[in-house]
Amino acid sequence: MSQVTSVRPLVANDIEHVAAIHQVAFPRQLESLLWISCNAAAYPRIRYFVAVEDGRLVGYIQWTEKSGFREEVVLELEQMAVLPENRGRGIARALIGQSLPQVACELEKRGARIKGVMITTRTDNVAQRIYTSTLGAVTKAVIPDLYSADEAIMIALSPDFSRE
Ligand SMILES: CC(C)(COP(=O)(O)OP(=O)(O)OC[C@H]1O[C@@H](n2cnc3c(N)ncnc32)[C@H](O)[C@@H]1OP(=O)(O)O)[C@@H](O)C(=O)NCCC(=O)NCCS
Repeated sequence: MSQVTSVRPLVANDIEHVAAIHQVAFPRQLESLLWISCNAAAYPRIRYFVAVEDGRLVGYIQWTEKSGFREEVVLELEQMAVLPENRGRGIARALIGQSLPQVACELEKRGARIKGVMITTRTDNVAQRIYTSTLGAVTKAVIPDLYSADEAIMIALSPDFSRE
């Protein structure tokens, strides 16, 4: 409980650690190293941030810009995971709360702002609660059996960064 979680942008040396977290967090998804590597190469369309505690990488978050580089940006919180042994201590909350302002700051440099955040997740995933409490996201649609189960499409318009 006493560890301080810092959240910073991914660097190249983090990729294999992030891939290892991806592998344990999403067992149905294959080729973790390739998935993370090619996404990381898509910067700035895709931005990764990592959570670090005592020098150890314990989680990551992936933000993806949708539908071109726009002035009014719709960002997808495409993926987020925390190592199983580190869950339940607010790391996901820190990942969202500390990375989103950093993304907003970067976007501001090109004159853009975040219009909304979208998230898709399984309807049985507890993560939905996190998206509502941190971003104010609400479920707008459910697509039955999209990936491995029913998938909720959640949206937070003009997300309120002060919720953190
Ligand atoms: C979803 C996940 C990232 C949450 O990480 P975490 O660090 O444990 O989450 P936090 O500790 O920050 O919890 C944030 C909130 O969710 C709640 N929460 C987290 N896990 C919970 C659980 N299993 N059951 C009930 N509530 C839970 C916390 O109580 C907290 O609520 P609060 O903000 O109202 O206090 C983690 O469980 C994970 O990696 N899961 C596998 C991958 C995944 O499903 N990712 C999301 C879809 S992309």
